[in-house]
Amino acid sequence: MHPKILVPLVLLSSLAQAADDLLGETTGGNTTVFATGRNAFSFPAANLTDAEQSRFVIGNSFFKRNWVQAPASTKARDGLGPHFIARSCGGCHVNDGRGAPPAVGQQPVGLLIRLSISGLGAHGGVMPEPTYGDQFNNAAVQGVKAEGKVDIAYTELHGNFADGAAYTLLQPSYSLHELGYGPLANEVLVSPRIAPQLIGVGMLEAIDEAELERNARQQAAEKGPIKGMINRVWDAPAGKMLPGRFGWKANVATIAHQTAGAFQGDIGITSSVFPDETCTRAQTDCVAAPRGGQGKAPEIDDKTLGDVVFYQATLAPPARRAPNDAEVLRGQKLFAEAQCSTCHRPSYVTQASPNPQFSSTALNGQRIWPYTDLLLHDMGDALADGRPDGLANGRQWKTPPLWGVGLIKEVNNHQRLLHDGRARGVLEAVLWHGGEAETSRDRVLKMSQPERAALVKFVDRRLRVRHR
Ligand code: HEC
Ligand code: HEC
Repeated sequence: MHPKILVPLVLLSSLAQAADDLLGETTGGNTTVFATGRNAFSFPAANLTDAEQSRFVIGNSFFKRNWVQAPASTKARDGLGPHFIARSCGGCHVNDGRGAPPAVGQQPVGLLIRLSISGLGAHGGVMPEPTYGDQFNNAAVQGVKAEGKVDIAYTELHGNFADGAAYTLLQPSYSLHELGYGPLANEVLVSPRIAPQLIGVGMLEAIDEAELERNARQQAAEKGPIKGMINRVWDAPAGKMLPGRFGWKANVATIAHQTAGAFQGDIGITSSVFPDETCTRAQTDCVAAPRGGQGKAPEIDDKTLGDVVFYQATLAPPARRAPNDAEVLRGQKLFAEAQCSTCHRPSYVTQASPNPQFSSTALNGQRIWPYTDLLLHDMGDALADGRPDGLANGRQWKTPPLWGVGLIKEVNNHQRLLHDGRARGVLEAVLWHGGEAETSRDRVLKMSQPERAALVKFVDRRLRVRHR
């Protein structure tokens, strides 16, 4: 090749690269996988070493395996319950994806109900409901009563966009009944939450705390109602208060805490982090039920627990699709105009993971596109659960990352969005935005049909993958 044309070619290709980056096609930098379909959320970061890939596979097997009631012949996987909701992590995070509210008449699995009463618990956390604890477990092993059943009913709400087009939203209401241990406290606070997709959580953990502070500072300095704040929560593995990043109220700081907490609270598997079952004193059958594992040791050992944490930390975000499509580009502009990007901050560069023992250096220094500020925002009455969680009040929720939101349809055959899965797609999710996001929602109400379609397509329906 002639040297004179080599130079501009190189320039051109690096420009193209930069443009790609601006569009955020490589959602997770070098970790990005170009995948669609059912398994789009289940791939390891593309740049893991072979040894790390093996660890990922081991972690995956414990994420998916069903735990069984103790005593069983396989000590390595007994200890389910006594109270639980699902038998495995994958039972709720189906294909590493998102849970859905149950069909009418069915019991929820991918949606769980957090409980508390008013007042502050240990380390500024919640005060558990005295008889039922901090979570409602609608399943139990044989010989133990379940805590009860959850019913969800929906009321249809009707509205119109400024152009006259009609929309319908589903307003959920919850009731807890067939209670196993008598009445709930009168002042019980209830917070329904669906299981989110797990892609890229390791990189969310590797966003510098200073970036979260910067988001809050910038929002505080701007005019207008958007004023996000950091949640600060107790991290049991680290033994200190840390900024919250995970859970719908940023109520958990690390993947390690979330994992040990889910093993204990959702499946009934104890660990060195949370060595006790969740039975309250009033639940005598639960207290008396046989424990799993080997003697006095926790039901899951530290190595296995660490492998499950590593597995999630290294789940890759899939690439965005059709980032150069004209309608997508139009939607991207509308997204910024409607101030969506103030809370759903597009991009960061990761630092080294604060928990390298459960993560990979492959995640360090990557330009990622999660679309979140990881801050709490007042989202208005209609979304409020009235249940404080750490510094979060009963009207605040954490801005969830938007990466992968469009692929939930392919992975989970539904697209139930928001903390309790009430929204059936992106547009409904936006129509529920209130409080600090009211101006954004009003802007969307005034959009023309083609503008709404472009906005949704930007967040969601990008046409196709470029590679693979
Ligand atoms: C009963 C259903 C259920 C089971 C079982 C379950 N999860 Fe979850 N998971 C959830 C829900 C609901 C949330 C959101 C919790 C909240 O907002 O407090 C969540 C959140 C998470 C998050 C944080 C994601 C984020 O971005 O906020 C991680 C990581 C996670 N789960 C991992 C696991 C692991 C590992 C297991 C198995 C040990 C597991 N989960 C078992 C329902 C479940
Ligand atoms: C004030 C901050 C803020 C603004 C502005 C904002 N959002 Fe959100 N967004 C949130 C929060 C917080 C949630 C979670 C609310 C809940 O779960 O109840 C959310 C949830 C969502 C969801 C559902 C995600 C999921 O995983 O279920 C979508 C989609 C979304 N927003 C898109 C948008 C779009 C598009 C705009 C602009 C029109 C926008 N948001 C403006 C804070 C904001």
